Amino acid sequence: MNYRHAYHAGNFADILKHLVLANCLEHLGAKDKPYRYIDTHAGIGAYDLASDEATRSPEWVDGIGRLMKADIPDDARPALTPYLDLLHRMNPDETRIYPGSPQIAAELMREGDRLHLCELHPQDAKTLDERYRRDKRVKVEVRDGYKALKSLVPPPEKRGLALIDPPFEDRDELAHMAEAVMAALDKWPTGTFIFWRSLKNLWAADRFDNGLAEWLISEKGLAPEKILRADLWIRDLASEGKLAGAGVVVINPPWTLEEKLLATMPWLADTLAQGDGYGWRVDGGLTDEDLEDLAGDA
Ligand SMILES: C[S@@+](CC[C@H](N)C(=O)[O-])C[C@H]1O[C@@H](n2cnc3c(N)ncnc32)[C@H](O)[C@@H]1O
Repeated sequence: MNYRHAYHAGNFADILKHLVLANCLEHLGAKDKPYRYIDTHAGIGAYDLASDEATRSPEWVDGIGRLMKADIPDDARPALTPYLDLLHRMNPDETRIYPGSPQIAAELMREGDRLHLCELHPQDAKTLDERYRRDKRVKVEVRDGYKALKSLVPPPEKRGLALIDPPFEDRDELAHMAEAVMAALDKWPTGTFIFWRSLKNLWAADRFDNGLAEWLISEKGLAPEKILRADLWIRDLASEGKLAGAGVVVINPPWTLEEKLLATMPWLADTLAQGDGYGWRVDGGLTDEDLEDLAGDA
């Protein structure tokens, strides 16, 4: 386990993942009933942007650094507001702390909501545990998040969200993810699931997304609009060097999310671009033709 999120916190990939997460949590919090947040790969919770790790090759400068200084047009705001309000609250002067997914949840969740965080790296799990030791809503486990997920759903609250955000050190990570979600969805069909995945090329991502979507629609009877994906690439995906693209697949997203993302992504992609060939997409993965074929097979 070599991956440490501290080197990458606040980069473009975190921005898309975390703004989707914040929107989903805000939606869950709009109802009085409590809900549960499960983070299978939690990291350390929050990141000091002045730390050695964050300053070595500061990815955050061209990520959240740009966003915090940007003049945001009104139509791009709705998807960004729950996320950026929280960032400004945590950083009233200079941008110094970046909230990881557990901290975003801790900031947005209410007294009666619960957070279940899994982190396998012993040092990171210790840091995470220390951060939330006094927060009665939070349980931290040093445990394989994939194995934990199946046993943690459905949560007692019945409502909630699971974020699956692995480091992609393992060549079979996508297969592990698909396996984990299939098992979890069987037990919790109404839960919201967010998967983060890197985007090396659109074709490979399509293979994963469409395989999952086909299974969900034909085997599980999920309506196609219950699957949403959002991808962002900051330069040509074929370019050499650091990660150029990433995205999320959301199962059972809030019904308002697609519209909000469609309004925000053109501006977000322009703002975070680092080279020619940058772009974005927000859709359900499968084409209309695929969906007709699936309907024909049913
Ligand atoms: C991409 S980072 C998570 C970032 C975090 N979700 C966020 O958005 O702030 C992935 C984390 O997963 C941890 N990890 C790797 N394999 C794991 C596993 N099987 N179960 C739980 N955690 C794991 C790594 O140590 C790392 O901290």
